[in-house]
Amino acid sequence: MSKVVIAVDGPAAAGKSTVSKIIAKKLGYTYIDTGAMYRAYTWYVLFKGVDPKNESECVKLIPEVEIELYPDGKVMCSGHDVTRPIREPLVSSNVSYIASYKAIRLALVELQRKMAEKSSVVMDGRDIGTYVLPNADVKIFQIASVEERAKRRYKENMEKGIKCTYEEIVADVQNRDRIDSSRAFAPLKPAEDSVQLDTSNLTIEESVDAILKIIEEKTKK
Ligand code: DC
Repeated sequence: MSKVVIAVDGPAAAGKSTVSKIIAKKLGYTYIDTGAMYRAYTWYVLFKGVDPKNESECVKLIPEVEIELYPDGKVMCSGHDVTRPIREPLVSSNVSYIASYKAIRLALVELQRKMAEKSSVVMDGRDIGTYVLPNADVKIFQIASVEERAKRRYKENMEKGIKCTYEEIVADVQNRDRIDSSRAFAPLKPAEDSVQLDTSNLTIEESVDAILKIIEEKTKK
């Protein structure tokens, strides 16, 4: 296969980005973190003092929002380096509202599809296998229990110096699961042809190995 497209979807904090990044590096593919794009848009909405629950005001900002993802993980939004601020709890707790607005999704999906045209990619998100790249060669639906996901995200935040409590993370993960799965347009759900991987009891290395095996199997023709 010349150009390979791998879609990794799943709920918040299931370890998709950690695992996808490693897989992309090992295979020499481009990693595209679509969650970072919704987070960057959310950061901009808050930066502008707009209420994230006000759909029409949020949508009005589309022409102003310019998002760039760099290979080293840097995220730029309309001239601001937002790599770190997009991981702050205020962005996390509001991003699902922004991601539920159809006009914003369409704008970001257009960008995501363009990014995937250029090279082999590992793209992670919620709707990659079902909507953004329905013809992806490999579709993974990565899950883990709420407790395990909250534990991982809490540890990650502590390492990054982001202040929060474990209880806040549990509430945020549950709230985002609910909004991401119940939105009308491109909700979080496994693609029919996806392979489900529960990483609750797997280490990062074990998850990477399991996904590499699936990729090898699916792309060996
Ligand atoms: O993967 P993440 O936690 O960084 O994603 C942040 C939010 O963005 C998540 O709550 C749902 C939304 N999202 C989405 O709706 N579609 C995507 N393809 C990626 C993320």
